[in-house]
Amino acid sequence: LTSGNAGKERTLAMIKPDGVSGNHTEKIKEAILESGFGIAKEIVTSFNEDSASRFYAEHSLKKFFVSLIKYITRGQVLVMVLEKENAVADWRSLMGPTDAQEAKISHPNSIRAMCGLNIEQNCVHGSDSLQSARREIAFFFGDMSSGSVNFSILNYIS
Ligand code: TYD
Ligand code: MG
Repeated sequence: LTSGNAGKERTLAMIKPDGVSGNHTEKIKEAILESGFGIAKEIVTSFNEDSASRFYAEHSLKKFFVSLIKYITRGQVLVMVLEKENAVADWRSLMGPTDAQEAKISHPNSIRAMCGLNIEQNCVHGSDSLQSARREIAFFFGDMSSGSVNFSILNYIS
């Protein structure tokens, strides 16, 4: 049997409010497609304080948490499910390091080098493991088997 999904992995990618408002969406999507990812799903939405706090729950005790929530709730985000072999690690690598200033020096061809500003405003998100990818994909796109629709917690735009 052959399957188009054989060996493929899925990860969650998000263009953050600074990436969307800075008109970086098209360039980022070009880089994604040129790197061999398929875009399986895509939505434009936005976070409120509650959904953002749950999405970033692992960081709730960090000193940057309040500022991170303020940043991520300030405008629309574009959320995508990316698909390819080794998607989780390859998308992290294409994004570049968390600190966009560091990215501009050490990974000048990365997306964060291209459109990020600093360690907070770094224009894109990517799941950090297969387990995170499953959780984050379900966060936005729900679990088909349970029939739950997570968009009720978000301000769904298109
Ligand atoms: P983290 O998961 O460590 O980084 P990444 O996005 O590369 O997986 O942190 C989540 C987000 O929190 C990060 O994208 C930007 C923000 N952040 C800060 O604002 N300050 C910081 O010192 C760190 C580490 C992250
Ligand atoms: Mg992370």
